[in-house]
Amino acid sequence: MRATPKYVVIDPTAGKIDRRIFSEQAIYDDEMAKIFGQAWLMIGHESLVPAVDDFFHTYMGEDPVILTRDGQGRLHALLNMCRHRGNRVCRVDDGNAKRFMCTYHGWTYRNDGALEHVPGESEAYYDALDKPSLGLIEARVETYAGIVFATWAKDAPSLEAYLGDARWYLDTVFNRRDGGMQALGPMKWLEPVNWKTMVDNCSDNYHVPTSHLSSARVQSRYLGRPRLSHEDQFASPNKHAFVNGHSITFRDADDNAPRYMHGVSKDTMRLFQEYHDATMPEIERRLGTLRARRVQLANHSIFPNGILGLRLALPRGPLKTEFWHFVLVDRDMPEDLQRVIRIGSQANNGAAGMFEQDDVDNWRQVTEASTSRLGRRHPQDLSMGIGHAGLHPDYPGFVSERYISENNQRLFYRRWEDFMNAESWATIPLDPVEANFEGTATMQG
Ligand code: FES
Ligand SMILES: [Fe+2]
Repeated sequence: MRATPKYVVIDPTAGKIDRRIFSEQAIYDDEMAKIFGQAWLMIGHESLVPAVDDFFHTYMGEDPVILTRDGQGRLHALLNMCRHRGNRVCRVDDGNAKRFMCTYHGWTYRNDGALEHVPGESEAYYDALDKPSLGLIEARVETYAGIVFATWAKDAPSLEAYLGDARWYLDTVFNRRDGGMQALGPMKWLEPVNWKTMVDNCSDNYHVPTSHLSSARVQSRYLGRPRLSHEDQFASPNKHAFVNGHSITFRDADDNAPRYMHGVSKDTMRLFQEYHDATMPEIERRLGTLRARRVQLANHSIFPNGILGLRLALPRGPLKTEFWHFVLVDRDMPEDLQRVIRIGSQANNGAAGMFEQDDVDNWRQVTEASTSRLGRRHPQDLSMGIGHAGLHPDYPGFVSERYISENNQRLFYRRWEDFMNAESWATIPLDPVEANFEGTATMQG
């Protein structure tokens, strides 16, 4: 008889979910080990470390990690912890350095992690120190279209298998141009929210006409963008899809419209349309006609905590999350268009973004509700659209019938259970890569 799993937090037939997962310290501690210790985690972008010896300081869960490019151009993700007593060997956000010296006793590491120099190696240690075994702890690193991922799990599948058919959709934003993308930022800030509230929110189009009503009115009045209504959302042909823990929402329209959400206004529309028309032959070659012309990735999350493009939702305890918000632009895009997207992104998302502030208020309240003793007795309701999702002839993954659905959220918490109940990757299920990746784009760009 199989043992009962430790975590059963969602009832998939009724869509009820246990609120304790948003606030309990013991559950959070397990998340750090089982999810952030096993999954592939988005940690940065190759464009943040373009030259040899460049480095960028980042995090895997709560663990500080230095993303380096060594003298041979290879990427490394190194735990920022001296192997002697544990001090951080790097104290700055980014830079260019061949070595990192610990400022406690001076142990010095190369940027590939090897321990190179120990003061008093002969005099103090009598040449008995096993230096080769005392390099910085290194995670596995792989990239997808310039985005850098790392995992502590030696038995994790390849990043390609981990992303699976989600990449079919991700390519429509991250893998469009031969020249790749440039990451700008990050903007960093803290919020009193559980890290899962915004991952869950990435597939929540239900809140948009209500929560963002005032922001959308401003956009409509001053930028000439269409008004949002519940009727439009309910009638939308757009969809959600779920693959291997990754939640995708996507636009399904053959209207040859430009692909950028941020910065589009009545004044800038012409710029976006010209760029779209000029680059379409290249994009069609890279992605095939269906993905180039019809499918546009919208809000999405990459399991566990990569959200809304290149943004990290870094857990800082059950009731706190640090956001690292980047703007990604095509490297070969005209500068004026890059500028418009950068400004548009800050106006919508980021610490001062109009839409962001609406969202953060929701995430705070979902988090707070989970701390209430009485409230915890009553589960969240995630029942929307149960039984109205399945396989689709054109689109990979588990696809919802409508744009408004809680299918992705239910499956996200099921995936959370898969990781939380697994001792190793041997028992974490993975869907095979089956989509037709038409075009020349690959994992490497
Ligand atoms: S703690 Fe780093 S050299 Fe001692
Ligand atoms: Fe929102």
